[in-house]
Amino acid sequence: MTKVLGSKRIFSDITDDECMEFLNSVSSIVQIDAYQQLKNYTHHYYTTRYQHSLNVAWYSYLMCKKLHLNAVSCARGAMMHDFYLYDTHDAKYAKKHIQTHPSIALKNAQKYFILDPVEVDCIIHHMWPRVKGKPRTKEGYIVTIADKYAASLEVCSHPFYALPAYFKKIF
Ligand SMILES: [Fe+2]
Ligand SMILES: [Fe+2]
Repeated sequence: MTKVLGSKRIFSDITDDECMEFLNSVSSIVQIDAYQQLKNYTHHYYTTRYQHSLNVAWYSYLMCKKLHLNAVSCARGAMMHDFYLYDTHDAKYAKKHIQTHPSIALKNAQKYFILDPVEVDCIIHHMWPRVKGKPRTKEGYIVTIADKYAASLEVCSHPFYALPAYFKKIF
């Protein structure tokens, strides 16, 4: 399990109770071979779909913890919110990708798990408000926020964005 972009927390730190609970929550998902294939797909230009899902799941988990919501189901739903195995630039999928990928991710998730209503909501409504259909749970809203937050971090992870800080150090 890799590190989360923008976070100082380390998943191998066994003294960190939140990290340990998070890992326990998502470990059955990351063990699936099909899920591991997400590492082969570029996502938001500079990262992989696997890393993006991990970023979203971790920030969703932390927000739920702060708000005393269902952090475990939210983390699991977030982990599977982009569980689709195709290149978004593939002409076969590109046209309707924004609208259809949440239901493809849900179908893939349901191949392996019986999902609870929070997990389903986190997956199926994560594209709101770009796509109609508001989340029905607070955890669902959390994933919509964490998804946009993680996407912003990922897009800005290009070395270009580090240049101002680099020049500040020089001058
Ligand atoms: Fe998505
Ligand atoms: Fe996403």
